[in-house]
Amino acid sequence: MKNHVQLGKSGLYVNPVGLGANAVGGHNLYPNLDEEQGMNVVRQALENGINFIDTAYIYGPERSEELVGKVVKESGSRDNVIIATKAAHKIANNETIIDNSPQFLKKSVEQALQRLQTDYIDLFYIHFPDEDTPKDEAVGALKELKDQGKIRSIGVSNFSLDQLKEANKDGYVDVIQSEYNLFKRQAEKDLLPYTADNNISFVPYFPLASGLLAGKYDENTTFDDLRANDPLFQGETFKQNLKKVEQLRPIAKQKNVELVHLVLAWYLTRDSIDAIIPGAKHADQVIDNLKTLDVHLTEDEIDQIDDIFK
Ligand SMILES: NC(=O)c1ccc[n+]([C@@H]2O[C@H](COP(=O)([O-])OP(=O)(O)OC[C@H]3O[C@@H](n4cnc5c(N)ncnc54)[C@H](OP(=O)(O)O)[C@@H]3O)[C@@H](O)[C@H]2O)c1
Repeated sequence: MKNHVQLGKSGLYVNPVGLGANAVGGHNLYPNLDEEQGMNVVRQALENGINFIDTAYIYGPERSEELVGKVVKESGSRDNVIIATKAAHKIANNETIIDNSPQFLKKSVEQALQRLQTDYIDLFYIHFPDEDTPKDEAVGALKELKDQGKIRSIGVSNFSLDQLKEANKDGYVDVIQSEYNLFKRQAEKDLLPYTADNNISFVPYFPLASGLLAGKYDENTTFDDLRANDPLFQGETFKQNLKKVEQLRPIAKQKNVELVHLVLAWYLTRDSIDAIIPGAKHADQVIDNLKTLDVHLTEDEIDQIDDIFK
């Protein structure tokens, strides 16, 4: 477990560079996904030392969990992989609602275990908060599942600070996953101080702002997936955002590293961010993202990056 870090107090040890698997079988998020390519992304991740794979019921739906489960099984080393998955979406009669009721969460875990072809889930998140269920009750249901050995740790996702506090009333929350990147820094004002004080690991999603922070787009790039409607990618805002990304280039150049790794390394300098889960559609991106581990930022560089996006 060399170079592995613990996710908060969870007892789970991961390579700080994980894999976000929403483009693995996430047909409802990205059109024309090739499943073989997706499975190869997971395979290459595992073969190259990434052991933290992030999926969810709603990626597909169901298909991402199925493909991840298949590859992990085929690897023959289930115990070396930390599988994180999430649930809360209930689809019935062509309608999707969010449900955090203990009954629904317990059923969701059972179904995820089947799709993942495993008898335990390392990290199970409530994917989104519903409006009705007291959050400590929802987490209480997960604690029961943890005591039964069906899940190893408890996560919540997309919870506000108040919802997180309620969820963590008994101190059971190990991890929160929320949007956080150099463009979206609200978490610094609310969630991150709380997670740091309570030894909860914060896993940022959209760390690359869906690729914008990888420094490979220009004004002429167009998108036919969920980015087509993402405010960060629209008109003048998109142009201004590209300019900010360009300001990172001299820092990366001086360090002789690539911009994408500079950005990913910056997150790992934040209190309570133990690991990141950049997404990837191609196996070479996964392997490439591991170079993040070789980037060591000075205090001055951390501040410079901070200032560009303040
Ligand atoms: N909890 C939640 O509600 C929630 C919500 C969203 C996401 N997530 C999780 O967070 C993960 C990460 O989010 P995300 O994948 O949507 O966004 P992201 O990590 O911000 O961006 C991923 C995109 O960046 C590009 N990329 C990745 N590595 C690269 C590299 N080395 N060089 C150049 N480009 C690179 C790829 O885009 P292209 O190949 O398209 O250029 C890739 O699809 C997801 O997979 C999912 O597991 C969770």
